[in-house]
Formats: sequence, C-alpha cells, structure tokens
Amino acid sequence: MSTRPSEAVTPKVEITGLHKFFGELHVLKGIDLTVRPGSVTVLIGPSGSGKSTLLRCVNELEPIDAGRVRVDGELIGMREEVKADGSIVLHALTDRQRAAQRARIGMVFQRFNLFPHMTALENVTEAPVQVKGMGRAEARRLGLELLERVGLADRVGHYPSQLSGGQQQRVAIARALAMDPELMLFDEPTSALDPELVGEVLQVMKDLAADGMTMVVVTHEMGFAREVGDQLVFMDGGVICESGDPVTVLDDPQQERTRAFLASVL
Ligand SMILES: Nc1ncnc2c1ncn2[C@@H]1O[C@H](COP(=O)(O)OP(=O)(O)OP(=O)(O)O)[C@@H](O)[C@H]1O
Ligand SMILES: [Mg+2]
Repeated sequence: MSTRPSEAVTPKVEITGLHKFFGELHVLKGIDLTVRPGSVTVLIGPSGSGKSTLLRCVNELEPIDAGRVRVDGELIGMREEVKADGSIVLHALTDRQRAAQRARIGMVFQRFNLFPHMTALENVTEAPVQVKGMGRAEARRLGLELLERVGLADRVGHYPSQLSGGQQQRVAIARALAMDPELMLFDEPTSALDPELVGEVLQVMKDLAADGMTMVVVTHEMGFAREVGDQLVFMDGGVICESGDPVTVLDDPQQERTRAFLASVL
C-alpha cells in the first residue's frame, strides 16, 4: 500500500496551543487539533466544555488569547512577519481581510437563523450577491442547484415559516454552501429538530462528506460519528481528553471521563 507521508499534506485546519478566556473564565486551555483536507472531525463533550467556542475561534467569531489557528496553512486573524533576525512579529488583520478569511468558512448553527422575510432561494442567493457581487441570474442558477442538492427543489419559493425545521436546516446548509466554502463547521445542527427530522439533515451532511468537503461537526449523533467521522474528539473542561478513530474511541474509550460521557449519551 502506498501512502503519502502525512507531513506532505497541509492540514485544512491546524490549531496549536489555543487558549481562550471570557474574562476570568478560562474556556479553552491549550487545544491542539489537526484536521486533514476532506476529512470529517466530530467534536463531542459535556455542556460548557468549549465545543462551540472552539468552532467560533476557527471562524474568527471569537478572538483568541494565545496559540495559533491556521486554515490551509494561513493564520486566522493575524499576519506573521518574519524579521531579518528570524523572529516573528504578529500583525492584526484588517476587518476586510478578516471578512475575506471568514467567507471561506461555512457555518451552520443549531438554530437555522434564516431571514424570515426571504424565500428559501433568496436566503441562499443573498450572500453571493451581497458579499461576492454575483449577478442575479448566476446566483439564481446557483441557488436552484444547491437547493436541489439538499433535496428542496420543490420548496425554493417557500418562506422559512412554511418549512419544517429539517427543511429550514437544509436551506441553512445550502446557504452556507453558496459561498463555496473550503471548510464547513456545524454546531449541533440537529439538536433543535424533532427526532423524525434529524435523519434528512444528517443525510445531507453525509452527502457533503462523500463529496469531499472538510467538516468539523459538534454533534451527539454517535451513529453519524461512527459512520462518517474520520476522527472523534472528546472535550471536557476546555481540553481535549481523548481523540482518535471514532469506532475505536466509541467502542474502547481509554479515559474514564470519555467512558462516563459516552455512557450518558448512548
Ligand atoms: N460570550 C461568552 N461570554 C462569557 N462566557 C461564555 C461566552 N460564550 C461561552 N461562554 C462560557 O464558556 C464556556 C464554554 O461554552 P461553550 O458554549 O463553548 O460550550 P459548549 O461545549 O459548546 O456547550 P454546549 O454543549 O452547552 O453547547 C461555558 O462556561 C460558557 O458559559
Ligand atoms: Mg455549544
């Protein structure tokens, strides 16, 4: 079997020594995490362990206090200048530069946050038109294609209030995809859904993974982790307690805290 040395591949996401405080509260306590291109990372852990905060640091929704976050090798939120003597000075990026970085990362939340006064199609085409300056006709073509991809070709003219939670979440996924992201972050995308609607959203996410999208997913859907995940990361108290192949971690957790958590959710 020929395998390429892993160090030859630039990680899609590389987090090193990440610390995050909210005032006195030390929420992320030295996170190191590598996400390979085209892989699915599933983040689990108790409430308050820092999962959402970690995603928000990758997406620059939260400034970080120490460490580095790189996406495709590029520092997030900062620019490195290597001085003649080899020392490195960090410069903050401008708002415009940060917005450009953020536009490459799609995010889907527990609450779908669709614009209520816009149809499904308008929700999907809004960002490409407003942020990327895409023409209306091209945006419409793209929007129709994406809504078809998430199984909503027959709902393009519906308003969010006329859609089920699962359908709304699929619109939210199509909306994120409309910016042609290279990385998708999902924060408990099915937690707000009635049980019978969870499967249709997970199926869209599975299809996306099969198409090669790099994904980081906070979820308690262990079936999804087992079936689709390339790595499972268990966080507790702002640190990564245990990580590895999902099947191995789920079937044979090495840490007591992982065992206790899995027993509580399974
Ligand atoms: N904006 C904020 N200001 C102050 N504290 C915050 C803020 N956001 C999160 N926290 C705190 O940081 C800690 C981690 O929160 P976070 O939302 O990342 O946890 P989580 O693992 O996503 O939890 P859950 O499973 O409940 O979503 C919690 O103690 C939370 O109260
Ligand atoms: Mg959370």
